[in-house]
Amino acid sequence: MVRFVNSGTEATMSAIRLARAATGRTKVVKFLGCYHGHVDSLLVAAGSGAATFGSPDSAGVPEAFAASTLLAPYNDLDAVERVLKEDGDDVAAVFVEPIAGNMGFVKPADGFLAGLRLLCDKHGCLLVFDEVMTGFRTAWGGYQNLCGVRPDVTCMGKVIGGGMPVAAYGGSRALMQHVSPLGPMYQAGTLSGNPIGMASGLATLSLCKQEGFYADLEEKATALAEGLGEAARGAGVFLQTGVCGGMLGMSFSERPVCNFEDAKACDHDRFAKFFRAMLKRGVWLPPSGYEAMFISAAHDGAAIGAVVEAAAESFKEVA
Ligand SMILES: Cc1ncc(COP(=O)(O)O)c(C=O)c1O
Repeated sequence: MVRFVNSGTEATMSAIRLARAATGRTKVVKFLGCYHGHVDSLLVAAGSGAATFGSPDSAGVPEAFAASTLLAPYNDLDAVERVLKEDGDDVAAVFVEPIAGNMGFVKPADGFLAGLRLLCDKHGCLLVFDEVMTGFRTAWGGYQNLCGVRPDVTCMGKVIGGGMPVAAYGGSRALMQHVSPLGPMYQAGTLSGNPIGMASGLATLSLCKQEGFYADLEEKATALAEGLGEAARGAGVFLQTGVCGGMLGMSFSERPVCNFEDAKACDHDRFAKFFRAMLKRGVWLPPSGYEAMFISAAHDGAAIGAVVEAAAESFKEVA
């Protein structure tokens, strides 16, 4: 069952409440550098804009809220196990971006998501995939359809509204029956499931569903990532790139970026200079080294070529 809401933040906020309602527990585990919207208890060690502005722990979040959020480094199953061993009886859910897109572009290590599934089952807490960014962008449905790991709750946003304010959270019927009016967990919104948003989302998803859509998108994203990588090498600049579906990333780093520590160690000053060098050449990149990049079905070979050309000059400028 799925409940529509208006933003990714509302989806994750509701997913926490659902996990607490279903388990009768309070705490949540999140990963350093993952961003799940501006929900009080998830604005702890958050990536994205919070990390960019040097305030991953937001002002205005009461200590008691932050204290109910437990942290672990991304891709570190041992750390999650330690946290759950200590506090497992009071953990309602583990929240994760199945590909982390708010500290650059960080893929889950082999076995990381499957390991989370096992740990959640062992400790009786829910596994929540925040697919607000990866949903319908990395694959039809979301990254869960690529990695084969089934979360208890999925949060969606962004692509499912086709540019309109639409998001959703959902899970099994047994779980979602905790939500009002079937169950005691209250959540509702005036504009939830509004007809304009739904029409826009449906139109977008009907395009995404066409045969070969994601293969084509990934081909374009790969061409861009490879072009950027080659241009960086040509200028003698270290660059890590990664791709999944329509999502890609570039980090100014000598070694692969696997977690928030690695992401913070990237050369963010160089990213800022590169961003401005690209802007001067008419290319608007995401405005932070903590952001992933997205390609659209509308980008063609000429657009990708123009970006790579601008990047080749810009890498030389910041080398
Ligand atoms: C993974 C993830 N979760 C949640 C959100 C919050 O979504 P919204 O900005 O729609 O509230 C974002 C937004 O960037 C996101 O990337």
